[in-house]
Amino acid sequence: MFNKIKEKYHLSDAEAILIKKGILFNTLSNISKMLPVGICAYVLSQMYSIITNKNYSVELPILMYLGVSATAILLMILLSYIEYTKTFIDIYQESANRRISISEFLRKLPLSFFAKRDISDLTTVVMTDTSGIEHALAHVIPQCYGTVLSTVVIFLSMLIFNFKMAMSLFWVIPIAFAVVLLSRKLQKSYSEKFKSEKLASSDQIQTILEMIKEIKSFSLEEKQKKSIKVQLDAFEKKQRESELFSATILASAQMVLKLGIATVILVGAYLLLHGEIDLFTYIIFLFSAGLIYDPIHALMNSLTEIFSTDVLVKRMDDIKKEHINVEPFSAKTDDMSIKFDNVTFGYDDEDVLKNVTFTVKSGSKTALVGSSGSGKSTVLKLAAGFYKASSGNIFLGGTDISNVDDESLLKYYSVVFQDVLLFDGTIMDNIRLGNKNATDDEVIKAAKLANCDSFVSNLPNGYMTTIGENGKLLSGGEKQRISIARAIIKDAPIVLLDEVTSALDIQNENLIQKAVSHITRNKTVIVIAHKLNTIKDCDNILVFDKGKIVEQGTHEELLKQNGYYKKLYDMSA
Ligand SMILES: Nc1ncnc2c1ncn2[C@@H]1O[C@H](COP(=O)(O)OP(=O)(O)OP(=O)(O)O)[C@@H](O)[C@H]1O
Ligand SMILES: [Mg+2]
Repeated sequence: MFNKIKEKYHLSDAEAILIKKGILFNTLSNISKMLPVGICAYVLSQMYSIITNKNYSVELPILMYLGVSATAILLMILLSYIEYTKTFIDIYQESANRRISISEFLRKLPLSFFAKRDISDLTTVVMTDTSGIEHALAHVIPQCYGTVLSTVVIFLSMLIFNFKMAMSLFWVIPIAFAVVLLSRKLQKSYSEKFKSEKLASSDQIQTILEMIKEIKSFSLEEKQKKSIKVQLDAFEKKQRESELFSATILASAQMVLKLGIATVILVGAYLLLHGEIDLFTYIIFLFSAGLIYDPIHALMNSLTEIFSTDVLVKRMDDIKKEHINVEPFSAKTDDMSIKFDNVTFGYDDEDVLKNVTFTVKSGSKTALVGSSGSGKSTVLKLAAGFYKASSGNIFLGGTDISNVDDESLLKYYSVVFQDVLLFDGTIMDNIRLGNKNATDDEVIKAAKLANCDSFVSNLPNGYMTTIGENGKLLSGGEKQRISIARAIIKDAPIVLLDEVTSALDIQNENLIQKAVSHITRNKTVIVIAHKLNTIKDCDNILVFDKGKIVEQGTHEELLKQNGYYKKLYDMSA
């Protein structure tokens, strides 16, 4: 049974031991809570004997009772304290590793996974779902097991003590459990519906925040307000339904439990009157009836929480089922040729690249040209291993990269993409991302080559200026120059450049062209440029149209063909 829990929650060995400890202390702590019942009942029955003069003993050992009671209280406090420190806190610390491991797992997944999955959904898995599981592991599972074990121990002792009274106390427990367990399926479905509405709501809020500029500039506020209200109302409705359902089930189970108190009073009174039990036994069972159902009720509360963690665990498992390319890539020779062999690829159902075949020789420069949306950037993303081809193969230095780990592959690439991504840190750190061992001087040298120096010197703290989330304090051209500096400092054998000059003015463009020629020297290069006069000296030019290569050759050869390239060239000239 415990192994099942271990498997379900993917517990580490350390966590499993902690939880076992938690169960042990919880069981002992629950049993210790019954001690005062015994003591009180004994004192009362002694007093009763004195009053009724049946067993008149003058030396009422008050001190002994006080001593025993104080010890019992101390024991209870001690057990609760150990339960708290040794289990809850340690389990929370162990659980932090779960969050780190799922983040690590996500980091290793190919980009294609993130194209399919929603980012706010993934954030919820890493932050909220793991919290839910942590709470269940620290506060719920040890308690559930502890309550079951302590109840069994108490039940057996009471059964030995007095069979009929024990039955009148415990008969309600299986019925109350049946009520909760039978509702499990429904509970799960309510919880799933509520979770998905919650996700849809946070998704919509995130989209609105991301698109706030567009919404304002197109005066879409009213429309947005209406649609978010509809979504939030739906979320609230599902939340209410889910909570109402749980509360109803719990209240019903609690009512069943309360019936136990009534049967103890009635059966006890009957047995007492018929002389089958003494007052001491009756009092013990009355006190027990007041205490025994509390942990059971708490357990039922917890069961509903455990049922709802099923959904959380499933969401986490779904991510873990994703395929990770585990084989690290390591180039065996200096051959840095890139080969696409009959590659077809689509982000979703529609193919964006169709049967693309070409070779970029090691150390040569190839340019990709073609109209917008023809698939040029997609070729670069596939070459760098961000996405995997739907069919066909891509080779680097003769090795098929379809099964290699992205991270080890990317060591061989310097990439400058259209959509530059910067993190909220200093300019220095953003450039250093290209090579984490680079010294400050090396970073500044690369920045100068990429023509960043002119705008960086105008910033308040120069290279130490923090640039805001995704560089929101910088212009598009400035971001691209930082990205070029990154590529310069990385100095990888293959360079992929996507429209590096698109966001730059003429003056900057010339300077950048110089920097680009500096980083591309002696490298294997694939470059995308709309300005065709910048790629005249490339060894090969691939002309794309609607995901296919329609022409290829050098600039001169392609002009001679007088085809699509010539048309594009004439247009751009
Ligand atoms: N992440 C994505 N998810 C879904 N579709 C995408 C994604 N990125 C690109 N596409 C689609 O794939 C097609 C090719 O896009 P790609 O970016 O490769 O074109 P491109 O030739 O680089 O265009 P441009 O010259 O405008 O940069 C387009 O139809 C585009 O809408
Ligand atoms: Mg593009």
